[in-house]
Amino acid sequence: QGDVQEEWFIGSIDQGTTSSRFFIFNSQADPVASHQIEFENHYPESGWHEHDPNDLYNSVTTCIEEAMKKFIAKGYSKSQIKAVGLTNQRETIVCWDKNTGEPLCNAVVWPDTRTKDLVRELKTHPNYGKLPNLCGLPLSTYPSSVKLVWLLRNHEVVRKAYDEARLAFGTVDSWLVYKLNGGTKNNVHATDTSNASRTMFMNLHTLQYDDELIAFFGIDRTKVALPTIASSSCPSKYGSIYEGPLAGIKISGCLGDQSSALVGQCGFQPGQAKNTYGTGCFLLYNVGSRPVISQYGLLATVAYHFGKDSQPVYALEGSIAVAGSGVKFLMNNLGFAYESDKITDLARSVKDNGGVVFVTAFSGLFAPYWIDDAKGTLFGITQHTQRGHIARATLEATCFQTRAILEAMEKDSGHKLEALAVDGGMSNSDLTMQTQADISGVRVERPGMRETTALGAAIAAALAVPGCWTSLDQVTEIMRKKDGRRVFTPEMDQKHVRRMYDSWERAVNMSRGWVKT
Ligand code: G3P
Repeated sequence: QGDVQEEWFIGSIDQGTTSSRFFIFNSQADPVASHQIEFENHYPESGWHEHDPNDLYNSVTTCIEEAMKKFIAKGYSKSQIKAVGLTNQRETIVCWDKNTGEPLCNAVVWPDTRTKDLVRELKTHPNYGKLPNLCGLPLSTYPSSVKLVWLLRNHEVVRKAYDEARLAFGTVDSWLVYKLNGGTKNNVHATDTSNASRTMFMNLHTLQYDDELIAFFGIDRTKVALPTIASSSCPSKYGSIYEGPLAGIKISGCLGDQSSALVGQCGFQPGQAKNTYGTGCFLLYNVGSRPVISQYGLLATVAYHFGKDSQPVYALEGSIAVAGSGVKFLMNNLGFAYESDKITDLARSVKDNGGVVFVTAFSGLFAPYWIDDAKGTLFGITQHTQRGHIARATLEATCFQTRAILEAMEKDSGHKLEALAVDGGMSNSDLTMQTQADISGVRVERPGMRETTALGAAIAAALAVPGCWTSLDQVTEIMRKKDGRRVFTPEMDQKHVRRMYDSWERAVNMSRGWVKT
């Protein structure tokens, strides 16, 4: 065991919309042990999307326990794990009682659209126009702020806790940091700048809570505990794991999952971009140390901020609400297949989409459209239509939205992107990635090591503690040498792509204006 005992490792928690995972990476950025658990998503009403906050925490601790068993079975020991990083689904909110540490209600998940009417009301506020310059985000059902306001107005238990100044608020990172630190035993209540930049409460320039933003949402800060905002790579603010097989190990990295994927892809230079096909799909474009406020429906966000004395790095983001969840919909709701790979096989069973377009607007349409009353719309069905056509149209929906985002990004930044780094579940489908290259006219580059989201948080954690990686250049060099990279270049006739995209745009228009009857 001599040699194996000298290596060092970093743990990484990845808490996503449909599953939680824990990875242990070695110094070559390869995962040596991992575990994944899917948990239940709740849809109590049309447009509502909830998680049980205890499921999120319990699934994380079970993943840690199971991955640690595999790690120890390989001859390694806990003492070799230098720190843990955390990455998470963003915008989703958890409200808990700061006296008891218990959740006050289910988490309201990022695609939830119950706030649609509230958003319309807030758009009539005289300061509405100031929001993008202050926080970088357009007002929509997506950010955390509107979810909290909705609960304060409609959920009695949350309201009472607020009135009695017992309410603790956080995004999923804050909730997990709090729980992993033992909850009320240590009361660690922190978030990082990338997560805080999704709430609409943080000023994008100062990286602190902004009184004007908080006043806009009518929130009284004396009645709600907000997490302390820290840098994404920080040895002191996120505490350490209180119990279980990693008890005593420091949490030194914290990043929203899309930021984490950008870091894991080593997108450290302005002009680099990545697209992650998870439950949703999120394209982040590194714009450097000054935020770019979009004029074309994109979001300005903190990409990452490593060390309180360093400059934050910002991104322009295009967020698509439905990607992998569209594939899941075909499997779970329509019974098309039992495994996601089979959806690609179905799509491959036909030579093209047969004229079918599927606007998968299950949560309205996000960037760059922001149509909150859009509903899923299947367009172009005839007697010729087979399941394969619908499967293909579902995969294409994400590719069309990515093209629309790239066009908006080009207008905002003045640069045409040449290469797009990809990762996430759907990126495993060669057909989808070739379609993405064809539809967007951009080279698509898929790395060999695709656990980039988890790796990003591991990088953030490792940089904050001694004896691990010491620079972003060092990590970039390690990743550059990895095998298995695949490049997809645009091949389809551009006139044909134009016709397909015209049909998509028509279908987007048809998806508007649905009301609940
Ligand atoms: O903004 C929501 C995003 O962070 C969710 O990511 O991977 O769960 O689709 P994912």
